[in-house]
Amino acid sequence: MTSIHVDNVDIAYTEYGAGPAVVLLHGYPFNQTLWSGQVEALKNSYRVITPDLRGHGESTIGPASMNRMAADVASLLDALGIERVVIGGLSMGGYVTLAFYRLFPQRVHSLILADTRAQADTEENKRIRAQQVETLLSHGMKPIVDAMLPKLLHPETVSKRPNIVKQLRDMMLQTKPEGAAAALQAMAAREDQTELLSHIRVPTLILVGKDDPITPLQDSEKMHQLIEGSRLMVIENASHVSNLERPAEFNSAVMTFLNDSAA
Ligand code: MLT
Repeated sequence: MTSIHVDNVDIAYTEYGAGPAVVLLHGYPFNQTLWSGQVEALKNSYRVITPDLRGHGESTIGPASMNRMAADVASLLDALGIERVVIGGLSMGGYVTLAFYRLFPQRVHSLILADTRAQADTEENKRIRAQQVETLLSHGMKPIVDAMLPKLLHPETVSKRPNIVKQLRDMMLQTKPEGAAAALQAMAAREDQTELLSHIRVPTLILVGKDDPITPLQDSEKMHQLIEGSRLMVIENASHVSNLERPAEFNSAVMTFLNDSAA
């Protein structure tokens, strides 16, 4: 893993393989290792770049917003000499992906939006996030991780695949509470991107776990309706972290999409 220094933070990232560039952005409160199953599938044909968003993984903590995280990705691409990319993100990574498209549309070859949504937080969501920030800063990650896990993974994953549960739990526990708190505040303050959707003019793949309670199927269906020519893949027996729960289905949809939308 290596890093660049930008906007007073260090952004850690890893690069794999060679070919057209694919950037994958993890959700909250995860890190770049979320994508290990996708990296394995893609790295023989693509140059895959997995950053740790500011405040997560090995990246340092700084003032956060979806736009700032998107600007970090643009600076990383500048440092790597990459102009245009396939950019994809899961959940908060998807919020950053939409912010990236709004800020730098000319840099986007195609979009992958996984278990995410375009709309901003409701007032109720914002209130819950403010409480979670207090919990994080006074009690650390554990209570937040314990409360989140049942929503992140499908009951079948929880009962039959303890290794996945452990991988996700350990990943979240490694996140620093201050970094997670900054991400929560950034998500609460994020813009509504619904209006952007009908202006998207690049190939777009939308993936969602059928039983995702955090960013439900209806949110993906709405994006699919509004993004012209987009493709929607609903993953059975998956909840919010569909790439980790069902890597074979997720990777196959991504590979087919990338092949079909190759420049
Ligand atoms: C995520 O997985 O990135 C978050 O749960 C998204 C959110 O809380 O809105």
